[in-house]
Amino acid sequence: MNFTLTEEHLAVQEAAREFAQKELLPGVIERDEEQRFPKEQIRKMGELGFMGMMVDPKYNGGGMDTKSYVLAMEEISKIDASASVCMSVNNSLVCWGIEQYGTEEQKEKYLTRLATGEIIGAFCLSEPEAGSDATSQKTTAIDKGDHYLLNGTKNWITNGNSSSVYIVIAQTDPEKGYKGINALIVERESEGFVVGKKENKMGIRSSETHSLMFTDVKIPKENRIGEDGFGFKFAMSVLNGGRIGIASQALGIASGALEFSLQYAQERKAFGKELVQHQGIQFKLADMATQIEAARLLCLQSADLKDRGLPYAKQSAMAKLFASQVAMDVTTEAVQVHGGYGYVKEYHVERLMRDAKITQIYEGTSEIQKIVISRELIK
Ligand code: CAA
Repeated sequence: MNFTLTEEHLAVQEAAREFAQKELLPGVIERDEEQRFPKEQIRKMGELGFMGMMVDPKYNGGGMDTKSYVLAMEEISKIDASASVCMSVNNSLVCWGIEQYGTEEQKEKYLTRLATGEIIGAFCLSEPEAGSDATSQKTTAIDKGDHYLLNGTKNWITNGNSSSVYIVIAQTDPEKGYKGINALIVERESEGFVVGKKENKMGIRSSETHSLMFTDVKIPKENRIGEDGFGFKFAMSVLNGGRIGIASQALGIASGALEFSLQYAQERKAFGKELVQHQGIQFKLADMATQIEAARLLCLQSADLKDRGLPYAKQSAMAKLFASQVAMDVTTEAVQVHGGYGYVKEYHVERLMRDAKITQIYEGTSEIQKIVISRELIK
């Protein structure tokens, strides 16, 4: 792997940093408190090309590589992990999934608008009784000839209310197990589709997490992604890439916490000198920075493998497993560096600590990442 970032990479990084500082930082604490979705900010992210970064320009995408995506995700997540999860799901799970496996018609109809952020998308795999055990789908998509009849409930769906396009994973033929599962593109306006309750979450509080209900929703056959029975493999494939996005989000949460801590430690005085002059604090900062650097390298390595068309399931699972632990460790230390100020909501680090936790849970818990890694090792 080449460790040197190109001028293009640096430009993307700088653009994301500038956007995060100018457009996301103002009001981020209030949005978190009020659980207010950053609708206007997401629209601007679309205009700047952050919502379909890796999509081919012929479908209105940015045509960038995955490394650029990692760099942008890190910068956005330093400030607002609620905005970055919306960005990650749209880029990795929805846009990439349709571009990689969709038909030309699906790309023209949906991807061209998803890639610009004109509309956003959601990925609907989890259910009340199918989180980690993703093959146990209770949502059904019964084959009715020219269409599927969709029934069931999905849980914890990111972008659940503001999306126009939902990729729904459902069981068509239970006898075939995971080979009977399909991935269907469902439009928001479909009759029988209802957006359910919004979750009141510990962190990423201004992201939209909803349950969804489907009652006899008619989905035309042309909205199935891939061959009949490909839905589970589709979900696993997009999640391999999604985990690079969430690993980068965790990396950003950690590096944001370090930046806030460095700033605070240089301003705050105790025992007659700045905090940063105390060795106890210096050691904390050194440990935080070292963990972050290691997480960054894992994120970039998995992105590099993906860009070169090499297998990356193991590395993306490693990146997510490691970076999410780093996010927890570094944000906890950041609160400690801030002392009493770290525990109150006027300072960013308590929010970052709450936001960090979800990176160990969604897109596969840390325990699931260990299953993915160990299975790859045994192979
Ligand atoms: N990449 C590619 N293929 C994979 C794969 C991967 N990572 N994991 C499994 N598969 C394939 C297997 O090879 C197998 O195919 P073959 O029979 O052809 O070999 C098939 O899928 C079935 O796999 P398993 O037999 O291993 O299935 P399993 O029931 O033992 O479970 C699992 C596999 C890895 C545990 C899987 O269920 C899993 O990943 N669970 C976690 C689900 C998850 O990440 N959910 C996140 C929700 S989405 C979200 O959070 C988005 C958001 O809003 C932020």
